[in-house]
Amino acid sequence: MTVSEVQERYPLAGGSGGVVGAALIGNIGQLAEPVSMVIFGITGDLARKKLLPAIYDLAHSGQLPADFDLVGFARETADAETQLRESVTAYARTPFDPEVWESLAERIHLVQGSFDDTAAFARLSARLAELDVRRGKSGNYVFYLSVPPSFFATVCDQLAICGLNRSAHGWRRVVVEKPFGHDLASSQSLGVALERVFPPSSIYRIDHYLGKETVQNILALRFANGMFEPLWNNRHIDHVQITMAESVGVTGRAGYYDGVGAARDVIQNHLLQLLALIAMEEPVAFDADGIAAEKIKVLSATELLGPLAETSARGQYGAGVENDVPVPGLADEAGFPADSATETFAALTVGIATRRWAGVPFFIRTGKRLARRTAEIAVTFTPPVHGSPASRAAAVSNVLVFRVQPDDGIELHIGAKRPGGGMHIQPVSLGMDFRSVFDPAPEAYERLICDVLRGDATLFPRREEVEWSWKVVDPLLDYWTGCGRPETYRSGSSGPASAERMLSRTARAWRTL
Ligand code: NDP
Ligand code: BG6
Repeated sequence: MTVSEVQERYPLAGGSGGVVGAALIGNIGQLAEPVSMVIFGITGDLARKKLLPAIYDLAHSGQLPADFDLVGFARETADAETQLRESVTAYARTPFDPEVWESLAERIHLVQGSFDDTAAFARLSARLAELDVRRGKSGNYVFYLSVPPSFFATVCDQLAICGLNRSAHGWRRVVVEKPFGHDLASSQSLGVALERVFPPSSIYRIDHYLGKETVQNILALRFANGMFEPLWNNRHIDHVQITMAESVGVTGRAGYYDGVGAARDVIQNHLLQLLALIAMEEPVAFDADGIAAEKIKVLSATELLGPLAETSARGQYGAGVENDVPVPGLADEAGFPADSATETFAALTVGIATRRWAGVPFFIRTGKRLARRTAEIAVTFTPPVHGSPASRAAAVSNVLVFRVQPDDGIELHIGAKRPGGGMHIQPVSLGMDFRSVFDPAPEAYERLICDVLRGDATLFPRREEVEWSWKVVDPLLDYWTGCGRPETYRSGSSGPASAERMLSRTARAWRTL
């Protein structure tokens, strides 16, 4: 397909960047309208390590609108500007350029206050109005809630009290970070609290995995190529494995992680979103409504397969190594109680009750302090059935792997004859490494912030998606509550033995970490 054919088949949403158009054409999209972006929690970890560096990178590549202003709302503003500069120097993707920084710094404004202080929100409102007048802007605001989830509703309510949630002239958008609740009920309450203040179309829920290029490429590979879709069903696919393994632990994150655990932290959101993209039908349009409709159908048909004692696994890292350095187990880390039952490894099996997927197990696993860092989706095809006994014996599993990170790319495992006498089949792989073909991809947060500014919600999960995902994992979390402490696994290993048993019971094995 030529680029113009691709554009014709996958028109850019609203003229500004549908997901498939953007992925294939490699263009992050047009500049947003003039806007002021407010970051609540600008002194926090996420803002320093991800948001500010991403905004700087967007400035560096000329992707911020000319009339962009950034307003940081913070309890302590004394040396915030120095801290912001340091975080850009340390964490931005692109090299530090004093000129870019100076021009961005001129656009950064700080408002001091705490979330329970309505007068501080009134000062914020006055500051935004002043910036609108000074730059001739029409009152377009993004409110980024980079704050502990317990403050989501408070901040929204304060915005409503000061009338900042609505405007007759400009648009208003609010960005919230995961976790979106800790179970279905709390997630529904959060949805109600947000929608009391902002209409659903103004709420952008961040799942940064959807901002990763390889993840967007799942749709491109499936729907822009003719060869995969005819095989994409239970007649040809044996099973799917979704793995997100991290080599690091949760040192220093006890405040967030204890009592949350691996299933809530990444399966309920990132990994079920990957599943939705792998399993969804082709959308009517590659825009926010079209893609959300198909993801919702898949997630609503997704169910845990049991019995859970056999089809799931849970672990907590013990002592061992992290990137070759000796480390203690979770229960000996600062902030975690010695009897913490928080899982750092979780695996489960789900099925999708649709005609396309009935009978195909999806095995999902994630863990901290595992042998190496990787995130991938591996689709294993059924072996050939009509060959002679000799060719059946020689058959290999064809596996299509989407490597999300590191070394993002796609590989296809096939069998090939080994040179020499006889017919000896050897598994080989055909590969495509994104970095060898395309320019370096933007960081997920660059892409997502840019999309918020442009008003393209395609890469943001909707409330229904979040709630269906909780419906999938809630029964497993309830089951684990009655199971005592998770099995200990060695830091630096491939996880608990129960995870290996989970797959061997089905006569399959996890891909090697
Ligand atoms: P932090 O605890 O590091 O930062 C919280 C921020 O909120 C700080 O700037 C803090 O200000 C501010 N804050 C807290 N209470 C008040 C208050 N009463 N009034 C005014 N400001 C207040 O959290 P993170 O940055 O790690 O996380 C932010 C959000 O992002 C959370 O929802 C988290 O779950 C989510 N997230 C974070 C990730 C990460 O990598 N950090 C990854 C994915 C999601 P002060 O400096 O004064 O305390
Ligand atoms: C976050 C989780 O959402 O994703 C973290 O809260 C995890 O626990 C992180 O470490 C992983 O993100 P990435 O992009 O490094 O794979």
